[in-house]
Amino acid sequence: MRCRTCGATAVINMRQHKLALCAEHFVAWILHNTTRAIHNYRMIAPGERVLVAVSGGKDSLALWDVLLRLGYHADGLYINLGIDGGRAYSAQSQAKAEAFAARCTAQFPKTRFFVVDLLKQYGESIPQLAARKRRETRPCSLCGLVKRHEMNRMALELGYDVLATGHNLDDEVATLFGNVMRWQTGYLVRQDPVLPADGEGLARKIKPFCRIYERETAAYALLQGIDYIEEECPYAKGATSLQYKETLTQMEHDVPGTKLQFYVKFLQAKAEGLFAATAGLPELQLCTTCGQPTTAEGQCSFCRLWER
Ligand code: AMP
Ligand code: FES
Ligand code: ZN
Ligand code: ZN
Repeated sequence: MRCRTCGATAVINMRQHKLALCAEHFVAWILHNTTRAIHNYRMIAPGERVLVAVSGGKDSLALWDVLLRLGYHADGLYINLGIDGGRAYSAQSQAKAEAFAARCTAQFPKTRFFVVDLLKQYGESIPQLAARKRRETRPCSLCGLVKRHEMNRMALELGYDVLATGHNLDDEVATLFGNVMRWQTGYLVRQDPVLPADGEGLARKIKPFCRIYERETAAYALLQGIDYIEEECPYAKGATSLQYKETLTQMEHDVPGTKLQFYVKFLQAKAEGLFAATAGLPELQLCTTCGQPTTAEGQCSFCRLWER
């Protein structure tokens, strides 16, 4: 297989784009595609500061790398959730994120890296919190809530304009599939590459890799020598989202481009007014404890977690 641009040996063949590329031109293609997504969806305005939420996994580390290479002011944030799972999952992923942060700072000296340690900050890790709330079997939804709150808090406290996450096309399509299976119109309305800032309480959230396949972010990380944690979170085993990913990957194998079409056509349909009738978003008020917007009366669901 030959690179379409230069004719050298290709390192990747993207069947859905009918495009094979060599290492150099694949890296350039990823940079180009991310730039296009950032511009098309108006993710980052000139001069804005970006906080990249990095998990130590391939997608978010690759995203941080790409944003820095594209010349954005992008700093990193890691949240230590205190998950062990027999293999020191959080400690290992933090070590990967830290090592990569050191490499970014060596190359781009203004780059900063922040760590929030849940246990130190709030006195409980995710497994401890889940046990107290009797949700130890699958603490993922609780974990998602905590991560969202902490990412938003840090972005606002540190004065960032934008919060970027490494969600790739496979993540977005699995979420979309789940939302459609249950016809969760409220979630469908809000599933978007960009969630705008909301008043004073919510940072703008962006997913610059939303149109890039997981296989491509993995190839990018490999080609750039990014050392990332390959393991999934120990609680993710058997999660429905992983089953959806398997099903969708089978469909993609049979018909290349299935995932991309499903996602892009969804965004198009939404832009054309599908779900508009349900778009009346719930009224938000400010949490009496932390000040972040919430649909709940009084305290937000994050602050209620820590009430004993
Ligand atoms: P996940 O929810 O694990 O699929 O991760 C989705 C995105 O959330 C990642 O690409 C990261 O940008 C961000 N993220 C996940 N876990 C963490 C973490 N522990 N610290 C900071 N960001 C995270
Ligand atoms: Fe939060 Fe797995 S990463 S439960
Ligand atoms: Zn080439
Ligand atoms: Zn709160």
